[in-house]
Amino acid sequence: MELSLYERLGGSEGITKIACDTVDLHLKNPTISPRFFKSDVAALKIAAATFFIMGTGGPSVYEGKDMLSTHKGMNISDVEFNAVLDDILQALEMNNVGQKEKEEVLFVLYGMKKDIVAV
Ligand code: HEM
Repeated sequence: MELSLYERLGGSEGITKIACDTVDLHLKNPTISPRFFKSDVAALKIAAATFFIMGTGGPSVYEGKDMLSTHKGMNISDVEFNAVLDDILQALEMNNVGQKEKEEVLFVLYGMKKDIVAV
């Protein structure tokens, strides 16, 4: 049987590294960095990591809000959504994640678009 995406991404340790790299890239990405000026970066990294751990088949450690409640009213654009996905892809590449796993992650995230963009 195939290992879960969680296991193939290196478990909690591997995923936490990918999530932290993603947040660091967001803070340097001019298309979206202003969105995070007032963020508690350490808390955001924990939220991103635990969300990703849970969403890939790992333990249910995420305690934040669902994606619709989190992003509702932020008026997020398509361009911003694509910028977030670009950063995630880059973080996956920085951590030598395989092509199949990259596609699986992006596919799942793309499915969340309807809860995040301009809702
Ligand atoms: C599939 C794409 C995305 C996922 C999986 C995602 C995930 C998350 C998660 C897990 C949180 C933390 C929620 C909590 O702690 O309760 C969060 C917060 C946030 N997200 Fe997203 N997000 C995505 C796209 C975006 C986009 C496109 C933007 C706009 C550029 C954005 C802006 C924010 C902001 C401003 C916060 C709040 C940060 C804070 O509280 O300091 N997100 N997101």
